[in-house]
Amino acid sequence: MSDQALTDRANAAFWDELCGTSMAQVHGVTDSSPESLARFDRAYLDFYPYLSGYLPVEMTGERTLEIGLGYGTLGQLIAERGADYHGLDIAEGPVAMMRERLARLGVREPQQRVRVGSALRIPHHDASFDRVVSVGALHHTGDLTGAVGEVRRVLRPGGSALVMVYNRRSARRAGLWLRGLPSRLRGRGAEHEAAVRRRYDHNSEGGEAPATEFVTASQARALFGGFDSVRVRRENFDHLRLGPWIARREQLLGAPARLAGLDLYLTAVK
Ligand SMILES: C[S@@+](CC[C@H](N)C(=O)[O-])C[C@H]1O[C@@H](n2cnc3c(N)ncnc32)[C@H](O)[C@@H]1O
Repeated sequence: MSDQALTDRANAAFWDELCGTSMAQVHGVTDSSPESLARFDRAYLDFYPYLSGYLPVEMTGERTLEIGLGYGTLGQLIAERGADYHGLDIAEGPVAMMRERLARLGVREPQQRVRVGSALRIPHHDASFDRVVSVGALHHTGDLTGAVGEVRRVLRPGGSALVMVYNRRSARRAGLWLRGLPSRLRGRGAEHEAAVRRRYDHNSEGGEAPATEFVTASQARALFGGFDSVRVRRENFDHLRLGPWIARREQLLGAPARLAGLDLYLTAVK
């Protein structure tokens, strides 16, 4: 089996537990009843208050593909804004969750619209979407460059992509780099690298995501070099503790996030 096939298989198993499960637990969400999902969605959109603003309020008729579905909050929002929504995820769990959400919204054919498959082989024709949305997923595929190429392939000329990838030059990574120095000096670079991946994504057993790539803003721009235009904006921050001084995360989502935020949001037009 190729390295990529092994990564795909590991991803399908790891992400079967919905990404967002720890947030769900914090908010007492343990089932997928409409009330529970509404509670989860409020918590998720409060935690990422900038996220919904990256998409138009009105998406009626826009053929939109979301890749990497997790708990499905963003997918539901896209469908509620009127888009002709399609979803893709490598794991069964998020696919089942999104189908359930679409069925509840009364969207036709949720089984056909939301599919299990890889971002590296998107099961759709060239130039078949007006918009592709992928938040926090393409950097887990094991081949970010290939995934961006696939996004470009399925977009029509003039279509747009919204992609979030992790920022290599974030305050969090700088802190982790410093803390990891002793391990790396002792030749335990691989352990440190796994700990970094775990800090970003872990399941309820404490395991780290099988693959995670980090890119700088200029690397991200280069990845989207085949597009007509690309804009990059940094978002998201951890709370900060410096001795007795603590800055809450909400206070850091403005200028500090613009400078050294955790995530890069790329808005690109083909
Ligand atoms: C960190 S979660 C993000 C989920 C959601 N977009 C969010 O922001 O909460 C990553 C998602 O990407 C999916 N994923 C990972 N590798 C993938 C691949 N090769 N193809 C498609 N989806 C993939 C995972 O199954 C998971 O649902």
